[in-house]
Amino acid sequence: MSDLSDSARNHASMTGASDASAFREAMSRVGGAVHIVSTDGPGGKAGFTATSFTAVSDAPPTVLVCLNSQSRAGIVLERNGAFCVNTLAAGPDSAALADVFAGRAGLKGPDRFTVGTWTEGALGQPLLGGALVSFACELQSEAVVATHRVLFGIVRAVVIAPPGPALIYRGRGYRTLP
Ligand SMILES: Cc1cc2nc3c(=O)[nH]c(=O)nc-3n(C[C@H](O)[C@H](O)[C@H](O)COP(=O)(O)O)c2cc1C
Repeated sequence: MSDLSDSARNHASMTGASDASAFREAMSRVGGAVHIVSTDGPGGKAGFTATSFTAVSDAPPTVLVCLNSQSRAGIVLERNGAFCVNTLAAGPDSAALADVFAGRAGLKGPDRFTVGTWTEGALGQPLLGGALVSFACELQSEAVVATHRVLFGIVRAVVIAPPGPALIYRGRGYRTLP
């Protein structure tokens, strides 16, 4: 911090960066693609909406997604040892689907899959029809960080649809990225 000017230091402390509500407000300025992470196997079927999906490496193709440790989907996903990240195309149906898998429609566990068109994809994982892209992943490892599990996956297969507008979450609402 010694290289910060007084004004930069004051500004940094004024933002209250260590406060959870200030952090949430800050993150609301950051737009992100919206994904449905799905899983199926011996542990059962589960899915959740996530923006925390990130590429880690291309050798081997590795991704991560963060999941609140309170979510039962984490236990299911761990037992299944595999998951699929389905990136949503823009559109009202996609926003409604994202709300379903965020628990905002009152549906839990496998019941969430009654909305949307789902088939069985690579590694036996639920594949969302109309997704921009889907990544079928084998769970490689996980780390618990603060309130969340960071799930690392090796990408074993991808389904790539023709390019099209994406659903983005920014400013606490859904937007379209053309
Ligand atoms: C746009 C959006 C993005 C989200 N991103 C994440 C995320 O990256 N990680 C996470 O744990 N929860 C995220 N959530 C919340 C989860 O989707 C929600 O808590 C989860 O579906 C609850 O599932 P459960 O009932 O199985 O616990 C997000 C919600 C929305 C609406």
